[in-house]
Amino acid sequence: MGNQKKDTEPCGWVVNRGSDGELEAAVGPLPENLDSQSVCIDVEAAGFNYKDALACEAHPGIARKLPLVPGIDVSGRLRSSCGDYAAGTPVVATGNGLGETMSGGFATEVWAPPVAIIKRPQNLSAVAAMAMGTAGLTAILAVERLRSVIDWDYQARQQSDKSLPWLITGASGGVGMLAVAATALAGFQVVACTRKKTVSDVLLSLGASAVQSPEEALPDDKKPLSSARYLGAIDTVGGELLAHILRVVAAGGAVASIGNAGGVMLPTTVYPFILRGVTLAGIDAAELPSREKRKELWAKLAVLWPLMSGVFPVRQIGLQEVADWAAKMRSGRIGGRAVVLPQKEVRK
Ligand SMILES: NC(=O)c1ccc[n+]([C@@H]2O[C@H](COP(=O)([O-])OP(=O)(O)OC[C@H]3O[C@@H](n4cnc5c(N)ncnc54)[C@H](OP(=O)(O)O)[C@@H]3O)[C@@H](O)[C@H]2O)c1
Repeated sequence: MGNQKKDTEPCGWVVNRGSDGELEAAVGPLPENLDSQSVCIDVEAAGFNYKDALACEAHPGIARKLPLVPGIDVSGRLRSSCGDYAAGTPVVATGNGLGETMSGGFATEVWAPPVAIIKRPQNLSAVAAMAMGTAGLTAILAVERLRSVIDWDYQARQQSDKSLPWLITGASGGVGMLAVAATALAGFQVVACTRKKTVSDVLLSLGASAVQSPEEALPDDKKPLSSARYLGAIDTVGGELLAHILRVVAAGGAVASIGNAGGVMLPTTVYPFILRGVTLAGIDAAELPSREKRKELWAKLAVLWPLMSGVFPVRQIGLQEVADWAAKMRSGRIGGRAVVLPQKEVRK
């Protein structure tokens, strides 16, 4: 079976700039996809990530070419065979240029490079898979990375308190909530840090032992180092918040820097690194994990999902609601995740 065309015209949320530089974004026909190696997936659902919110505004750091269909995560069925996978196999595809250098998942069909495609775990529906997507891969990568870089021996010799919790920031967001659940599942105590107390019950149900505002979670002194409060931290916010966290991580502890929702500058000192041996570990879920590693991570997400399902707020939206959700995400007003169902509009 080849990558044959469907009877109905494919469409998606297409972002472009007019000749005057003004943003143009609407549901429309898909831009040409020139890569002959790509394989067609009939889209059932697409995850909505912070990167997608940036792509919806044609942010040049994400939308590397225009016109572009955003959507770095997608799940659906293969229209043709791909390697060992037969036509019709339910798959997920993440990163590898989708929604950045080539059109992504906010569409009825997507043409993905074979390296991006992995069979969807059996217990995950398309919506469940996309409720996690890159946010879930990132959360699990961060937990694994911190476990491997925390200096447990140094901790013991410094007699630091091993039972200190991990801090998760931006905890009301997609990555934040998944990181809370993944960290708790790994057996660590979690302090979920959020500016929105309205999501406290959700975070506690996902496994947080406490929910605190940034002001409660961090001291208000301005010292380069303050009393150790956390053994590890997963930070989705960046900027000053990340700098504050580094001041209160215990000797031998580590911080995973994941995001920049709150800023890109890092106004810190070298003291956490040279006086406490703290590690600052970067996570790049889009490019870092190999296809084999992504298979392993998806198997872990399949284990995580039953613990989150029913608690994790997942909103299902159509293509017409994409712009509105992107704006809400950019202003930090959302809680949980949105999943785009491209067929929701088409079938109206
Ligand atoms: N490194 C990677 O591979 C990777 C992968 C996926 C995502 N990311 C990044 O991780 C970050 C979170 O992604 P996400 O999908 O979880 O986004 P999201 O769902 O929009 O969550 C972001 C959260 O950040 C918090 N926040 C704090 N200050 C903010 C501000 N000034 N503006 C907006 N939000 C602010 C908010 O939580 P509270 O209100 O609870 O504080 C917000 O809910 C993004 O920067 C994204 O680009 C990186």
